[in-house]
Amino acid sequence: MERALCHAAVMLLAGACVTTASLAVAAESARTELDAALRSRPNLDHGAELFRNCAVCHGSNGEGTLDGGVARIAGQHAAVIAKQLVDYRHDRRWDIRMEHFADQHHLVDPQSIIDVASYVHGLSAGVAPGVGDGELAQHGSELYAGRCSGCHGPEGEGNAQKWIPRIAGQHYEYLMRQIYDAVDGRRPNMSRAHVKMFAKLDRDDIVGLSDFLSRLGSRPTAPEAVAPTR
Ligand code: HEC
Ligand code: HEC
Repeated sequence: MERALCHAAVMLLAGACVTTASLAVAAESARTELDAALRSRPNLDHGAELFRNCAVCHGSNGEGTLDGGVARIAGQHAAVIAKQLVDYRHDRRWDIRMEHFADQHHLVDPQSIIDVASYVHGLSAGVAPGVGDGELAQHGSELYAGRCSGCHGPEGEGNAQKWIPRIAGQHYEYLMRQIYDAVDGRRPNMSRAHVKMFAKLDRDDIVGLSDFLSRLGSRPTAPEAVAPTR
């Protein structure tokens, strides 16, 4: 009996070790691939060619869909797009469609990742994003200034150097879903502290923040250096 228990405990421990080890390997190979992508000089013609696949869902200007089913990616920092693509490739962010279209068959090497990411950064969505009903936008604005703007910037512009996404002008429904998905553990690439911060928000907070951010869209992003310094 004792032995069986001990054996089970060893198995459990071994299992935990394997899981931790494979997560660490995934993080390491994601990092290597992202570094290689960010070191490459972007080829925008090749990026435009690759983007044809993406446009089927994201729209020809990267505008996404108003119902928030598909993200608005136009104008996002190239470094952020590259990181998200790499994360989908390494099981660090889950979405079956993105895992398919960001895989090695579609984006064959780090060069292709930076090519398409840089092309998308240069796009301008051209249409207004989906927004909420406006009722809680002021509440969202106050929360944003207190808890989020230190990282995402006063205008929701993000920070390419630190892989912080631009979230201004993202579709309302998409923002809502990302917050709930992160709390449900569906975004392993997001830091635990970030997920915890989301978990403390109530429904009104989430509606307010998403509505406020979706309306913050009009300013263009500042020019970026592709490779973050660290
Ligand atoms: C079959 C439809 C489809 C195709 C094709 C597709 N995407 Fe996506 N993409 C989505 C959906 C849906 C999401 C939201 C997924 C989620 O919630 O994680 C998304 C999310 C993303 C995100 C994360 C955005 C964010 O801010 O959270 C990026 C970046 C992205 N796509 C880039 C691309 C690029 C580049 C391509 C082409 C190489 C591409 N996508 C092809 C449907 C698609
Ligand atoms: C300590 C810095 C920091 C703070 C504070 C912070 N964020 Fe973030 N946020 C990040 C980073 C970094 C990411 C990218 C994580 C990743 O790689 O997926 C992110 C991602 C996000 C995303 C996903 C964007 C996308 O396109 O997929 C949303 C939405 C978001 N943050 C909203 C918020 C809101 C709302 C607040 C305030 C309640 C907030 N963040 C506070 C750093 C921060």
